[in-house]
Amino acid sequence: MNTIMPYHEDTKHHLDRYARSAGQMDWNNQPDPFRFYEGTPQISLPFLRQEPKAAHQDLYLRENNAFQPVSLETIGGFLELSLALSAWKAVSGSQWSLRINPSSGNLHPSEAHLILPAFETSGTGVYHYNPLLHALEQRAEFPSGLWQKIQRHFNADGFFIGLSSIFWRESWKYGERAFRYCNIDAGHALAGLSMAANLFGWRVIYLNALSDKDVSTVFGFDRTSWHEMEAEQPEMLCFVCDARHTPLPRSLPPDLVSRFSTLSFKGTPNRLSREHVNWEIISEAAAVSEKPKTDEKRYDYGNAPLLKQADSSLSASKIIRQRRSGMAYNPEGAISKEQFLSILDKTLPRNQFAPFDVELGGPCVNLLLFVHNVNEVEPGMYFLVRDKNPNAIKDACEPRFIWEPVEKNFPLYLLQVGDFRDIATHVSCHQDIAGDSAFSVGMIGKFRDVLEKSAWKYRHLFWESGMIGQVLYLEAEAHSVRGTGIGCYFDDEVHKLLGFNDNTYQSLYHFTIGQAIEDRRLFGYPPYHHL
Ligand SMILES: Cc1cc2nc3c(=O)[nH]c(=O)nc-3n(C[C@H](O)[C@H](O)[C@H](O)COP(=O)(O)O)c2cc1C
Repeated sequence: MNTIMPYHEDTKHHLDRYARSAGQMDWNNQPDPFRFYEGTPQISLPFLRQEPKAAHQDLYLRENNAFQPVSLETIGGFLELSLALSAWKAVSGSQWSLRINPSSGNLHPSEAHLILPAFETSGTGVYHYNPLLHALEQRAEFPSGLWQKIQRHFNADGFFIGLSSIFWRESWKYGERAFRYCNIDAGHALAGLSMAANLFGWRVIYLNALSDKDVSTVFGFDRTSWHEMEAEQPEMLCFVCDARHTPLPRSLPPDLVSRFSTLSFKGTPNRLSREHVNWEIISEAAAVSEKPKTDEKRYDYGNAPLLKQADSSLSASKIIRQRRSGMAYNPEGAISKEQFLSILDKTLPRNQFAPFDVELGGPCVNLLLFVHNVNEVEPGMYFLVRDKNPNAIKDACEPRFIWEPVEKNFPLYLLQVGDFRDIATHVSCHQDIAGDSAFSVGMIGKFRDVLEKSAWKYRHLFWESGMIGQVLYLEAEAHSVRGTGIGCYFDDEVHKLLGFNDNTYQSLYHFTIGQAIEDRRLFGYPPYHHL
């Protein structure tokens, strides 16, 4: 495989053929959803004694949150509100955990690693976050002077957090399409980190110049003895510091990266499954989309004022903690136009506005909307143009769409009036959740031109989609409805509907928001009742 295109093409679901997967679940080899680095010193993180004071809008607005010094307490709180467990569910004898961040099939391929300064009870070094125990596992200790050098480079107090993916966790169930899902999940986790950081007055910045090899070196992945098929693949490294601190570098200089290659990494990764299926196409896709070193880039998203917002009385941390995927929706459940627009408005990138100010890049993903039940908004098909270029996407679409602006100074356009419930259900692998909701979404990414230049941006397109999904999840909760990510959709049916005749744009992820019908058979337990 020389380009990422064959992977994308091969992993489309079609009406008459789904992308290849095992076809049935091999329960004996279900991967352990938790990674442990056995033999590492463990530091239990404290749980929040007091919830952050932040209100709904403070999830997004950086200026509203006071800076809190970085300590084990605040890092514990930051992880508790981004990647920790959020609940346990049980039904007829089986029990499973759920997390603050969503994941396709609840399989959780994303792992987090941190580089931390010394605190009273812990030394400077590289750590893995274990969400089951809400604990850090120390993988490497720093020699004296290294942290100070890093701090001088950033000219700021802060710490690093990065994400990796274990493809096998997803491919166990989803086979070849799993590489897409791992990247969407990483985007959800990144947005979750960015918004949780905000509640402590911090900002997460993606270090966009680093290569995947650099990230692998920093986390010691190249010096870890992995069980076959269970290696963690580096996704990204971010710096976290006082949100008011600008400008910041977007890289680590090579001499600092090479200092990590001299560290001794402890810990043996636990075995996740006894046997595996090797989906070679995933390793090939990972290889062709490996990120090289690139120039440091900064992005200016402007400061467009927010629309008049429908506010929530829920606090920011309540919204984060109660996020759940809806499993069925009530077609009668409507939302107001103001809520609809407020939700969409949060998906637009702005400076100093979480989560997109992590600065992954310029926006590349637009939202195709199937509006089913939004008061004062005609049912129909709409586009929210996030990439600031309505003419480009318009040119790629069916000429018969009307492209009528809905709201002054807001990039939302009506394409066609009509009842799209059946169509939305149909294109989302016949899942009723897409047609029974108030509205559902197809995330349509700029594709061919982006990937011809840089195959590694394939992963970024899915990260960006996952980030949008995370905003939609939280906004749904804020407005007393619920959301669900939809990774299963018939790619080319969406393209056909829009009239695309090439791959200038592609559908990357779907989503739905509406009034959820609760499954009353499930019992819930508090997230850390087991500790
Ligand atoms: C990338 C992604 C794809 C998903 N695809 C689907 C889907 O096609 N259908 C569905 O019902 N749920 C889907 N979900 C929801 C997950 O099943 C859900 O996040 C997971 O079971 C964990 O539950 P929670 O979100 O309540 O924590 C998806 C979630 C993500 C993040």
